[in-house]
Amino acid sequence: MYLTEKEQRMLEGKEGYAVKKSMEILVALGDIYGAERLIKVGSVQVAGVSYHNLGDAGLEFLGELAKDGKVKVLTTLNPAGMDLENWKQLGISDEFAEKQNMVIDAFKKMGILISCTCTPYLIGNLPRYGEHIAWSESSAVTFANSVIGAKTNREGGPSALAAAFVGKTPCYGLHLDENRAPNIHVEVNATLKKFSDWGALGYSIGKKAENKIPYITGIEDAELDELKSFCASVVTYGSKPLFYMQGITPGAENHKLPKDKATVEDKDIKEAYKNINDDVTDIELVCIGCPHGSIKEIAEIAELLKGKKISPNTEFWVASSRSAKQLADARGYTEIIERAGGKFACDTCMAVAPIKGRFKSVATTSAKGCYYSRHNKMLTKMGSIEECIEAAVTGKWS
Ligand code: F3S
Repeated sequence: MYLTEKEQRMLEGKEGYAVKKSMEILVALGDIYGAERLIKVGSVQVAGVSYHNLGDAGLEFLGELAKDGKVKVLTTLNPAGMDLENWKQLGISDEFAEKQNMVIDAFKKMGILISCTCTPYLIGNLPRYGEHIAWSESSAVTFANSVIGAKTNREGGPSALAAAFVGKTPCYGLHLDENRAPNIHVEVNATLKKFSDWGALGYSIGKKAENKIPYITGIEDAELDELKSFCASVVTYGSKPLFYMQGITPGAENHKLPKDKATVEDKDIKEAYKNINDDVTDIELVCIGCPHGSIKEIAEIAELLKGKKISPNTEFWVASSRSAKQLADARGYTEIIERAGGKFACDTCMAVAPIKGRFKSVATTSAKGCYYSRHNKMLTKMGSIEECIEAAVTGKWS
């Protein structure tokens, strides 16, 4: 890979340890994927924040980089393993909190915004159309590439961090227009009736796309929260982190319909629910906010919970960014949710918090949430916000 004089100096360690290590990572990646050069990035999203996933080895790696590493571009963080303020209320141990806080301190020292959300585009890390970025959260990468039209590969935690210290990333994969052409046409003939149908649609298209880039037709309208949920699901279940939705996402007009074709019918949506949902009635955890809940979703939850009480057998979590919660505080939504017995799980989520073994079952609006909950050995139910609230209040899935 061609390096400028300045980049060469960085690689030689003239700008310190963190930049040298970062250049080594970026050059190795560039060589593997045949990149010709590095390109500037407008922002970075770093995943791999939970101590649950990092362990002591990860913490040590971050500690070394934090000694002299400072990010060169706007850099935000993915969810951590706990709510950074109310971790006790969510049942997190003192030992875990101590380690998680050490992780956060290392990121803080590097100049990273402690945003701890998988929806950076809702809290101020919003790239423009066509901008090169280096993000490493699959749902956010898919949203940035598809809904915004920015350009990013699906980075790993270390390569995103390296891009942040250098301000650049190797130019390969989805940074190149020739790799962004759709290669499967998916015609949607199914009727989407409720919010979780977008997760089911993502499941179905992800499975049919098999690591291709779908060009989706047949969708008449889509709200931002629906697209947010779809992005998380379609990439989790198999597509590349990029799709085009005719009439809805940018860039579809620049491409012809691919010859390879699949369809999604009502029966496929039903099939998706059948595969995502387990045979379970008693619900021990209800979690809404995967990807992190927007203020609109939180408002809807508060409206549905007004005057109700969460079942004593069930925990109810709203996973969101802290910024969304601050808006919810100001509007009185937090008070309504907490009065009903619900809890906010800011800065974290059900996939990265250390909750394995605590709950046998979970209900959620999110197909991605179900996928990761099964990894946490929970039985899963996916449904609308209304169905999830009903499960939280009764403790049962009906
Ligand atoms: Fe976000 Fe966690 Fe879901 S990172 S997309 S809330 S699994």
